[in-house]
Amino acid sequence: MNNSRIPLKSQSARKSQGCLSFVHLFSVAFLVLVLAAQLLFRDAKLHYSHIFTGQPFLRAIPSPPARIDPEPVCENQPFPTSLPVSWPLNMALAEETKAVVAKFDYTDENLNAGVKEFIRQMGEGLEQDGTSLSQIPTYVTAVPNGTEKGMYMAVDLGGTNFRVCSILLNGDTTFNLTYSKVAIPKELMVAKTAGELFAFLAKQIEEFLKTHHQEHFYKAVRRRQTFSAPEGYRDENALQLGFTFSFPVNQIGINKGNLIRWTKGFDIPDAVGKDVCALLQVEIDKLHLPVKVSALVNDTVGTLMARSYTSPGKTGAILGAIFGTGTNGAYIEKLANVKKPMTGEFDKTTGLMVINTEWGSFDNQLNVLPNTTWDIQLDKNTPNPGIQMFEKRVSGMFLGEIVRLTIVDMLKNDDIHLFKDINSSHNDWKSTTNIAPQSGIFQPWGLDSAIMSVAAADNTPELGTLRQSLESDLHVYSPSLEDAQAFKAIAGAIGRRAARLSAVAVGAIVLQTGKLTDPEWAGEAIDIGVDGSLVEHYPYFRDMMYEGLRAIEGIGEEGAKRIRIGIAKDGSGVGAALIALVAAGMEKNQSVADHLHDVRTEAKANIPSAIPEAGETSTVI
Ligand code: BGC
Repeated sequence: MNNSRIPLKSQSARKSQGCLSFVHLFSVAFLVLVLAAQLLFRDAKLHYSHIFTGQPFLRAIPSPPARIDPEPVCENQPFPTSLPVSWPLNMALAEETKAVVAKFDYTDENLNAGVKEFIRQMGEGLEQDGTSLSQIPTYVTAVPNGTEKGMYMAVDLGGTNFRVCSILLNGDTTFNLTYSKVAIPKELMVAKTAGELFAFLAKQIEEFLKTHHQEHFYKAVRRRQTFSAPEGYRDENALQLGFTFSFPVNQIGINKGNLIRWTKGFDIPDAVGKDVCALLQVEIDKLHLPVKVSALVNDTVGTLMARSYTSPGKTGAILGAIFGTGTNGAYIEKLANVKKPMTGEFDKTTGLMVINTEWGSFDNQLNVLPNTTWDIQLDKNTPNPGIQMFEKRVSGMFLGEIVRLTIVDMLKNDDIHLFKDINSSHNDWKSTTNIAPQSGIFQPWGLDSAIMSVAAADNTPELGTLRQSLESDLHVYSPSLEDAQAFKAIAGAIGRRAARLSAVAVGAIVLQTGKLTDPEWAGEAIDIGVDGSLVEHYPYFRDMMYEGLRAIEGIGEEGAKRIRIGIAKDGSGVGAALIALVAAGMEKNQSVADHLHDVRTEAKANIPSAIPEAGETSTVI
């Protein structure tokens, strides 16, 4: 009965001891099972996250080796001491980015081959028409020296905007410029007839005169009511207008030129082959405006003139160049080197002629230009395949599209996860990246080159500004640091190639002019005026150009030091005014009225709705 003496408590304790060890064992085994199941489940979630998250299946996710960030950043630390790093599953992205960047490499060797070919094609263009570098004589035979004076008008058609300006040249290298700017409606860029576009331009001139030169405008209106000429003013009283028309034109006089082809997205076949000055004069006359188109100017020629007017050295600028929506350059050539016939009148005493190279079409035959698969794709999607091949690798209108096509191809590569994460732990912003379907990345021409400047300017470790722009401009949500780094590298490589190609054109022209070795220019700066969004807003564009110039045989370190590349803003206004002034000087032998008679006779021959001579009865109005 001893057993009965055993306290109940102890008995139960013993019992429970036996029970406990069983429960222990059981719970440990259970825990192990639960843990194993959880691990399996988590792994499965990583591999098949689309099933668990209900997300559409985007790609097969390669199993990343389970890893823990070696240096985790303490979330509670207010000022983290180490950089935020997104989950580096993306060695593949880094590798692929490197490979793509290498395809845009433009080596010193390429650069020198480019310069040789550029000089060869320049020579070819000076000998005959129809070559890839058009080398168009502009009938401008001298550059200004800053003492020019007078009031002129200028209009500028050359890209997305139309500008109307009036310029007062003060004669002391300074000027006053008033202007208005209007976007060209897209439908007019591809209008059926030239008249539609040029009527719009004339209307803007009328608006400008009403707003800024009421006196002149209403004087002309008053005269119209009392005077027998339908224009209501004597031609001698007209404002002289320089017409900056930044497309390839076969110039046959200082105020006459037939359009060779459209570029930069314009496409109005009706205008090709016609004199663009006459097209504008006809529409101006229809509105009875007291304005005469007296000079035809390419924007590069305007830039060259403006640069010479505002910063005249002992020697003047030798080249005016545009690196903007399009690209081109005009330089001063020895008249003796221009072998092809020139029909128009010009002053031969200077022995010089400003040549509009139209270098946008350098090497259309692709003898030396780089040609990646993305360059080929881009060219196919333009209205002028095979033309402006240099411009399509250099200018702002095209660079964004090259970046876009490259990124689109990278997005197709499932192994590199560009702009995609597995989950929020793979992104230093602790979110997941995705691109909205309406992103410009998926639309042809939907990536504005401006974001390339943001990418080039953001040199912070986090690339915060670029990532913000990717979100706001391209609808890429929460791009990771690696995504932004890849984008920056690719955009940078495309921008750098463009700058080095630009150095080819500039370097070739410097060599062609022979100034570096000319004893008369010893120690003198070789001045170049430039304008356009790339040189103005793309960070380091000029520096990269200089780097290219230093690598050119015949220029080198020393030569590059003598080349002075300076911004010449408003070339299309001031430059055009200066050429209108030159034109007025040339007309001393021919009265303004005679000159206008010529313009109108020609216009009548070419354009059915041309305005009649002063004194004739209008058939149009
Ligand atoms: C045109 C040139 C112009 C350049 C810069 C090119 O597309 O062909 O005439 O000078 O753009 O505006």
